[in-house]
Amino acid sequence: MATRLSGHPLIELDSVDSTNKYAADRLHLPELQHGTVILAHEQTQGRGQRERTWSSNKGLDLTFSLVLRPKGLKAAGQFVLAKVAALAVHAAVVDALRAASGLGVGAVHIKWPNDVLIGDRKVAGILIHSELAGERITASIVGIGLNVNSSELHAAPGATSLRNEVGHALDRLALLEDLLARFDAWWGRASTAPGEVDAAYAAQLWGRDRAMDLELDGVPFSGVPVDVDPAGRLRVRDLSGTEQAYGLDRLRFVPRYQ
Ligand code: BTN
Repeated sequence: MATRLSGHPLIELDSVDSTNKYAADRLHLPELQHGTVILAHEQTQGRGQRERTWSSNKGLDLTFSLVLRPKGLKAAGQFVLAKVAALAVHAAVVDALRAASGLGVGAVHIKWPNDVLIGDRKVAGILIHSELAGERITASIVGIGLNVNSSELHAAPGATSLRNEVGHALDRLALLEDLLARFDAWWGRASTAPGEVDAAYAAQLWGRDRAMDLELDGVPFSGVPVDVDPAGRLRVRDLSGTEQAYGLDRLRFVPRYQ
């Protein structure tokens, strides 16, 4: 196995509790340089958003963490990481669907803040952890779980895999290489043309310009997602036409599958 993938240093693990935890425990080590990918063929205690777990099947899916040591990124601007990661996963999923079957790629969207959906089923999730020194981000761990070849997804209602969509298995490493190349391209654009990143992210938002079932502080309401503000809060238009931005602490989409 190569020790680099798409130019990224690669640490390949047969089995680990969580690649995000593995990276967090070693973040002080200089060997974990900017761009390092920690790839596990099995995760026994994968972590998800909101203290949930992330399950994947040994040798079938992609579970990895990307270590970043961003220069000059302030905590207030950290949502750019979520955008870049989501755009990279989105692009890799579109590429895979297109290559495998020419499937309608218009069906791939980013569900705020950073899930990737095919139709309204989740194919990938992203969990980002950042370390701060005052206002500055010293390191970030971008953990990505992508359902590639699993066909059993019973544990996760509303989930899908690429295999389920295209009807045959895909090459996981080729997919990861494409995803990393896409990440590098979007990461570069984040400093040279940040407006392009914002526009691309907003253009791919799931539910954009449609009335969606949302919950604000636990109270259901119908609102139209418009885009995100610089802090990463979702800007929503209510039925009276008023727009307001809310963070994950207050707002969520009502789950379609229980
Ligand atoms: C979510 O809940 O949608 C986020 C899921 C993130 C899962 C990935 S898999 C690789 C990395 N290691 C973890 O423990 N979690 C992330």
